Amino acid sequence: MTDGNQGEGLQLRSLVTQDGTLQLSLAKVPIPTPGPDEILVRVEGAPINPSDLGLLLGPADLATLQVSGVGEDAVVRANIPQQFARAVAGRVGESLPVGNEGAGVVVDAGADASRLVGKTVALLGGAMYAQYRLAKAADALAVHDDATPRDAASCFVNPLTALGMVGTMRMEGHTALVHTAAASNLGQMLVKICLKDGVELVNIVRKPEQAALLKGLGAKHVADSSAPTFMDDLIAALSETGATIAFDAIGGGKLAGHILTAMEAAAVRKGGGAYSRYGSTTFKQVYIYGGLDTGPTELNRAFGMQWSLGGWLLTYFLQKVGPVEAGKLRQRVADELKTTFASHYTAEISLVEALQPDVIAAYNRKTTGEKYLINPNKGR
Ligand SMILES: NC(=O)c1ccc[n+]([C@@H]2O[C@H](COP(=O)([O-])OP(=O)(O)OC[C@H]3O[C@@H](n4cnc5c(N)ncnc54)[C@H](OP(=O)(O)O)[C@@H]3O)[C@@H](O)[C@H]2O)c1
Repeated sequence: MTDGNQGEGLQLRSLVTQDGTLQLSLAKVPIPTPGPDEILVRVEGAPINPSDLGLLLGPADLATLQVSGVGEDAVVRANIPQQFARAVAGRVGESLPVGNEGAGVVVDAGADASRLVGKTVALLGGAMYAQYRLAKAADALAVHDDATPRDAASCFVNPLTALGMVGTMRMEGHTALVHTAAASNLGQMLVKICLKDGVELVNIVRKPEQAALLKGLGAKHVADSSAPTFMDDLIAALSETGATIAFDAIGGGKLAGHILTAMEAAAVRKGGGAYSRYGSTTFKQVYIYGGLDTGPTELNRAFGMQWSLGGWLLTYFLQKVGPVEAGKLRQRVADELKTTFASHYTAEISLVEALQPDVIAAYNRKTTGEKYLINPNKGR
């Protein structure tokens, strides 16, 4: 056992107050002492992913953002528009720690986990925007010795989701897949996985430069939704690949319906059955797994009756496949951390910098190739 830690560490907190204000601040929390099977990690890298922004900033109107205090004592406030009051009701008054995943060095451990002291590990499970994070040793992913915390910071959310898409495709009997917002950090990983595993992938992007980026990685099928030929390009790619399952990160707007329409057109083009006014017999699935567009999902229902639209979350996928399969996927991430699952960061920021208005505006952009990494121990 360890003798007990002393001192405090900073932890980023997000609070919604009763009067509808979002409040960000740095709490000073005691550095915990690990139990027998626990480790204490000095966090040195935690990415800011879209799902983190959902908790960190919620639906706050950043145009109303104001800061009081300076440095570690800064408090950021922004109004939450009245129409989102119900959406945030469940978290009012609770000062929530943020940061789904991250990595760092084990600085203390209980007797049963002492082998991990000095090792770099990756963690999932929240409260990673903090200088120190206590965890069960069994939950930590020990990465290879040449990997830094920066390399290991994004081991779970995007890598396992990309692997989960291919896994879901196989489990549900599809042979090729479609992905939207495909030039995202996750999308680039998916391109590499599919090339390596010989899976046909249709990438949908919204800008020519994103198409060029993915082609540069070796992607074969890329359809640009800003091109006048988009639907024809998509139908051609779906006909060639036979993709009948799609993972849509955007959610709002017409794209999910356009994908189902294009899948139906590809099925009809393939033919083989008698005409039916109920559409083809080919089952078509779209999973919405992100909310990059928070507006309503609009379906034109021009795709027969053999289709389904659902939600998809990594947590539920991992529960479905069970701990043994999940363990294999985690190990693959560790083994291919610097190749298939490499993440690139625009900037490494401290907890204090994460509360500065210009930095908040930058990391909230969610733009292609711009991902921010919080290093809670930067400069310490
Ligand atoms: N369900 C799950 O379990 C799960 C797990 C992990 C990740 N996710 C989701 O996966 C998605 C990708 O995450 P990431 O970290 O890889 O993102 P990222 O690297 O920040 O990239 C975001 C991408 O989305 C594009 N984009 C943003 N808003 C858009 C819109 N309204 N319409 C079309 N494209 C838009 C951006 O393109 P521009 O440059 O053109 O803006 C950029 O290419 C996110 O939606 C995230 O929530 C879900």
